[in-house]
Amino acid sequence: MGEFKPLVFSGVQPTGNLHLGNYLGAIRKFVALQENNDCIYCVVDLHALTAQLVHEDMASQIRSITAAFLASGIDPKSHIVFNQSAVPQHAELAWIFNCVARIGWMNRMTQFKDKAGKDREQASLGLYAYPSLMAADILVYRATHVPVGEDQKQHLELTRDIAMKFNLDFMEHIRRAGQGIDITVGDEPVHAYFPMVEPLIDGPAPRVMSLKDGTKKMSKSDPSDLSRVNLMDDAETISKKIRKAKTDPDALPSETEGLKGRPEADNLVGIFAALADKSKEDVLKDFGGQQFSVFKPALVELAVEVLSPISAEMRKLMADPAHIDSILRDGGERARARAEKTMNEVRDIIGFVK
Ligand code: TYM
Repeated sequence: MGEFKPLVFSGVQPTGNLHLGNYLGAIRKFVALQENNDCIYCVVDLHALTAQLVHEDMASQIRSITAAFLASGIDPKSHIVFNQSAVPQHAELAWIFNCVARIGWMNRMTQFKDKAGKDREQASLGLYAYPSLMAADILVYRATHVPVGEDQKQHLELTRDIAMKFNLDFMEHIRRAGQGIDITVGDEPVHAYFPMVEPLIDGPAPRVMSLKDGTKKMSKSDPSDLSRVNLMDDAETISKKIRKAKTDPDALPSETEGLKGRPEADNLVGIFAALADKSKEDVLKDFGGQQFSVFKPALVELAVEVLSPISAEMRKLMADPAHIDSILRDGGERARARAEKTMNEVRDIIGFVK
């Protein structure tokens, strides 16, 4: 029995401002994973075309996400940071995956239903095929671990389904091409070319909620800016948004059990815990029995302490776009070499004449 070489991959779309949900659900985890893993982090610019085709500021959005990666502590030398369009192999594998994935699978994707809205006929074909490109992003490197927020869970399940169907449908071809390794999936032995990816969703804030409504996800597309803390907000804005965040009138509980049915309290405690690298239990040990009038100022202080250096560094980086571009070019080159190795093998497996 073999095992795939561990590799971390994740992506962030260059659309709109990054917010605390993106930071805690994804980027902060990217940073932590660098220590013991080989990591590839991608600005997924091809995905940005799916909901809106024309972007006036595409280039600056790509640079801004890259700056957020670097300012948060991602090391582009030991790992890889690049933008998706620089590696055409993503789109090539996505086409093959379009032919692997079944329409019935795509029809179940809740994010498509949410993003397409009522008038589904007017949604782009790209929005529909979005998860197939996402599977290609990951599997073109044969990555094994994918840190994401909870909203991406269904897409990663689909990635596993696509990998499994490819492995089973092409099993003999994979063997003949001298590729793949023997793994077990559940109890089933499979000679697999693509790994079954593991989502990394855990942590105290896998789903950061809106500051205005604890039942709604914090999101770039919420019309109210008060619903989210943006990575580039200054200290005063962060303070205003947290002070105005919706809460209930009760004191904080001493145990996490007491957060049930209190979505706003649960959300703020989760945010505090993630920013402090603590568990919710530990936060409640310190703040159980306290009113929000005590907890909120502590949260403001912590959020400003964590986010201010990041936004300051982002501003500095954004002032030198040529430097960011050179990092992306270097990362793109290294990513392309790895992706091409996979595609070369995939072309052999399928039987394309080269
Ligand atoms: P995107 O760009 O919408 O979001 C980037 C990351 O932020 C996480 N996230 C959140 N986490 C917690 N709470 C929230 N409120 C919140 N909002 C966003 C997302 O889960 C994500 O991890 N489809 C992806 C991009 C992508 C990708 C990939 C990710 C394309 N290819 C391959 C992983 C692997 C997306 O739209 O993320």
